[in-house]
Parts: sequence; structure tokens; C-alpha cells
Amino acid sequence: MQKEIDMFDVQKIRKDFPILNREVNGKPLVYFDNAATSQTPQVVIDAIVDYYSNYNANIHRGVHTLSQEATDAYEIARKKVQQHFNAAHSHEIILTSGTTHSINIVATGFSSLLTKGDEIIVSALEHHSNIVPWQMLCERTGAVLKVIPMNEDGELLMDAYDQLLSEKTKLVFTNHISNALGTINPIEEIIEKAHHIGAAVLIDGAQSCPHIKPDVQKLDVDFYVASAHKLCGPTGVGLLYGKEEWLNKLPPYQGGGEMIDQVTFEKTTYAGLPHKFEAGTPNICGGIAFGVALDYMNSIGFDNIATYENELLAYGTKKLLEIEGLKIYGTSKQKTSVISFNVGDIHPYDIGSIVDKLGVAVRTGHHCAQPIMDFYKIPGTIRASFSFYNTKEEIDILVEAIKKAKMMLT
Ligand code: ALA
Repeated sequence: MQKEIDMFDVQKIRKDFPILNREVNGKPLVYFDNAATSQTPQVVIDAIVDYYSNYNANIHRGVHTLSQEATDAYEIARKKVQQHFNAAHSHEIILTSGTTHSINIVATGFSSLLTKGDEIIVSALEHHSNIVPWQMLCERTGAVLKVIPMNEDGELLMDAYDQLLSEKTKLVFTNHISNALGTINPIEEIIEKAHHIGAAVLIDGAQSCPHIKPDVQKLDVDFYVASAHKLCGPTGVGLLYGKEEWLNKLPPYQGGGEMIDQVTFEKTTYAGLPHKFEAGTPNICGGIAFGVALDYMNSIGFDNIATYENELLAYGTKKLLEIEGLKIYGTSKQKTSVISFNVGDIHPYDIGSIVDKLGVAVRTGHHCAQPIMDFYKIPGTIRASFSFYNTKEEIDILVEAIKKAKMMLT
């Protein structure tokens, strides 16, 4: 293990990210908002410039050279995504605008598969994007939403999950990792138990994919969703993985060009997978850059990333806890490099604003997870989320900035 860490040259990696050289408010940037969006390496920026400089064209539509080059590059990117997630077929990868779009494709599609009294299970650790689409689905169908509760450490109560599962359960939905607390959920167990009673499972991998390389076939998951921008890629692109049989069962989400087979004014037939779910001109450049971002992250290696980030998590936890009155929310044993905390009664926003003046970027607030904040009876937290390009020295700067903010605010 130590050998891997020695080989992991963070200073060399940092040179790949131009933004890490900038100053904020006259101080070197310390970027700890990676759970909101990751930074972009030069190789991805170059891919975006190359697309718009050399072969910008619409795809799947033209016989001309530029269109063919763009189509080839986009479909190569889809294959890269397929390989990264180990999907059985590239047509099981739908390129979307991001995790929220992907979830909505499934939630809307299930309208035609659910009836009154059916049940959908979500977890108490969900982001709003994993709550609201299911509530809307329940309103449309008369299905009922059930919630797996959590404990003080921010872990799901699996005994309660066992109790919620029944022949009425049609769909189980949970994130792989909580964006607000960093908890890694036991998704293998969740999937296996749901399948045992015949329910489908959708896993939100938005927060896990930057840290873990999921194998959708090994997981035997029915749907898996994620966003490129948390994986060193651009915003506005993501994926919906679905098992072929499930994607064939779901109706299209949007009508338009590209998703059709034959159109007449009397009747339209739809294209096969993946195009059935890809109406309109997609984020072509974003898709291509997503493939390049995956190549980049794989060149560093997800085992190296996880080992290094775990070291940052342990160091950051220890250092932050040395600050008197600091309380960490989310103390699960299975956790990724996200630390959510408050300092005494100080409002998280006040601390966030002061540390920003010192060059440190953290997220403050409810993190689009109000039910978690309600559980802890707090308005929000300060969240520091570490990536493989962060350093222990940056954590020291964060700790000093928090101490300074605390002094000014008490
Ligand atoms: N879901 C993102 C976050 O947790 C935006 O910050």
C-alpha cells in the first residue's frame, strides 16, 4: 500500500490542472468543493478546443467529413464509458445532460409500469434530485414512497430496509455515496435484497464515480447514473446505464429528432437503443470530452485515487477535530473523502464566506439534502470534499482559515 502512495506524485498531477495555479482574493486557491464539481485537466480542455477548432458538426446526420468525424468521436466516447462501467453493450449507455436528467428518464418511464399502491423505496441520505422525481412519479401513479431511515453516524438502517421490502416494492433507489456526508452505502446488499423480491434498482453514482470504478455487471444493477463533471469532465453531460431489457421496457422520455424510426402524421415508431432516449442534438463536445476525462482518471488509477484520498480523509478528520467546538456530521466507517461539519453555533455560511476570503473554496448550506439537515436539526454544514489533486498542506490551510473565522465570529 505504501509503495502505491510513494508512486502517486500529487505535485506532478497538480500540473495537469491549470486552475490550481490561480489565486483567489490574493491567496493561492485551495479547492475543496470537489463533490460539487471537479476541476478540469489540460487534456480535457484541449479536447474541447480541438473539437470546436477542427471538427464541430452535428452527429448521426451528415455524410460530410466533419459530421462523420464528430460522429465517430462521439461513439468512441460512448464505448469508453461502456468499458469504464463494464456495461455488456454500448447501446446500454445513454448519454444524457447529467445525473438529474438520467434519473428523470427512469422516473418518468416508470409512470407506465406502476399502478396505485405499488411502492418505491428511497434512502434517507438522498439528494433532492433523488427525492423529487420519485415524489412526482408517485403523484402521477398513486404509488407510495418509502424511506430507509438513517442513524446518527449517517448510515442506513438495513434492518429497517428488510422490513420495507415487500411484494409491493417495484423500485429501489439509493445513492452509492451520500453527497452531504460521504457515507458509502452497502449497495451490493441493497441490490441483492431488492432483486430477491423482484424489484428493480437504480443507483445514483454521482458521488461515487470520482472515487470508485463501478462494475455494473458485477453489481447486477438495473440502472446506474452519473455526471461527467464530477469525473474531471465538462458540465452538461452524464450517463444513464440501463440493462437492455429495462431500457426496452421504458418508453422514450422526450420526442424529437434522432429518437425515431419512421414518422408519419398518423404514427411514429421509435429508434432502437440508445437513440430512443437521445432526442435532439446532444452535448457532442461534452460527450467526447467525457471519454477523454475517463482516460485521464484511469491513467492515474482508481486504486491509487482511493488510497490517496483515504489518507487525505484521515488527515483532514484528525486536524479538523483539533478545533474546539467543531462537530463532524457523517461518521460512518465506510466513508469517502467528504467532511461535513459545523463549528459551535456559527452559521456555516459565515464561515464559508470568511474562508473564501482566504482563498479556500468549500460548500456551505444544506447540499440539496434538506432531510439530512432536518435529521440533525441544523440549517446546514460546511463541506470540505477532497480530490486526488489536493494535498495535506492545503488541509492545513483550511484548518488555519477555520480557526481564523472562528476567532472573528465568536
Ligand atoms: N450535488 C452537488 C453537490 O453535492 C452539486 O454539491
